[in-house]
Amino acid sequence: MIALGCDHGGYNLLGEIKAMLDESCVAYKDFGTFSEESCDYPDYAKLVAGSVASGESERGILVCGTGIGMSIAANKTRGIRAALCGDCFSAEMTRRHNDANILCLGARVTGAGLALKIAQIFLETPFDGGRHARRVEKIEG
Ligand code: RB5
Repeated sequence: MIALGCDHGGYNLLGEIKAMLDESCVAYKDFGTFSEESCDYPDYAKLVAGSVASGESERGILVCGTGIGMSIAANKTRGIRAALCGDCFSAEMTRRHNDANILCLGARVTGAGLALKIAQIFLETPFDGGRHARRVEKIEG
């Protein structure tokens, strides 16, 4: 399952991501927010990060205006490796090398077409393991 979350800045883009997941029959749980009314991104980052860290969800996607607030907040949860991506190469490499478990997107920075492609790559790309596993282990200390 994929955990999803956004604030008001990411609400519309997350709707497009949900439509893409529906089309591909990918299961997800939407932790909100559920409207364009102003809200606080850390509330949703914590819910999605908790779901991924507990193992309830395999991965997560968080969307806010820039993606920055979501990534800062999500990375406070132990076991979370949240990566803000604005290009396809970074999305591929953060899965292959960092085993990132949450993708953060900036809806006011990255156009919807590109953001959907980034999300698709993030969800489809496996971790390379090997020497990268040792490095990822060192992140947790
Ligand atoms: C909300 O205005 C905005 O600050 C938020 O969506 C995000 O960009 C924070 O990092």
